[in-house]
Amino acid sequence: MADLDDIRDGKNYGVGVQQKTEGFYLKGSNNLDWGMKDRLSRIFNPATGRTVMLAFDHGFIMGPTSGVERIDLSILPLIEYADCLMCARGVLRSLVPPTSRKPVCLRSDAGTSILTELNNNVVIDIQDAVKLNASAIAVMVAIGDHSYEAQTVANLYQAVDAGQMSGIPVMGVTAVGKDMARDARYFSLASRVCAENGANIVKTYYTEGFEKVVACCPVPIVIAGGKKLPELEALELAYMAIQSGAAGVDMGRNVFQSEKPAAMIQAVGAVVHKGLKPADAFQMFNDL
Ligand code: R5P
Repeated sequence: MADLDDIRDGKNYGVGVQQKTEGFYLKGSNNLDWGMKDRLSRIFNPATGRTVMLAFDHGFIMGPTSGVERIDLSILPLIEYADCLMCARGVLRSLVPPTSRKPVCLRSDAGTSILTELNNNVVIDIQDAVKLNASAIAVMVAIGDHSYEAQTVANLYQAVDAGQMSGIPVMGVTAVGKDMARDARYFSLASRVCAENGANIVKTYYTEGFEKVVACCPVPIVIAGGKKLPELEALELAYMAIQSGAAGVDMGRNVFQSEKPAAMIQAVGAVVHKGLKPADAFQMFNDL
């Protein structure tokens, strides 16, 4: 039986004080369930609404490309500066300490390497994402690819269904095939298709006219860094994306291929969260 000793009557009912009903700070996310919002708020800092995702999922397609040959040596020292880790499950289990206490955006589609054209990618079982305590799952969509558009959109759709059941947000990752124009028109289309199919976050690429890409996408957009650029240019890229309305970056090579990866991720963080201008962030990079 419950302990009935000294059960006191309530006194502080706050009668007349209206209970606050707050909206959720992320674009397009107000109607999600609590678990979804909780996970999104681990990824996107509630103080700024933005995120610096550290992407190191490259090996699952590229193998031991420059900067990710030894995740333990090159990536683990950067984890403390990231808001979120983006990686595939093999590296997560084998190399990322579970004591890191960082949210994980789990790369969740598989089936392709750089040795072949896009393949019939499949999505990992949502139960594995649950076991790994993923805060989001990332699934690639190849809009405009005649062979695999339908398959990859179906993957995203099914991932959203599974994610909804488990309270796990889905990030749609827009792939860019060789034949596709890397312009605002294409990225607007690809991002919107991801969001309309239920993606809670979209990852795409910065381009001229990016404010239009962001404006017509009903959920937060983060940009990939893309190929390695000189540090100042990478900081300019991040700055322009944020100024255009991006909710953060999902950056890999421009961090881990930098001569000073720890300095670079901190400088990127200052651009993303503090709106530091590229020249000032570059100064910060040099000073660190
Ligand atoms: C690409 O397929 C991967 O998902 C990367 O995580 C993504 O492109 C971000 O990395 P990077 O900044 O190197 O482009």
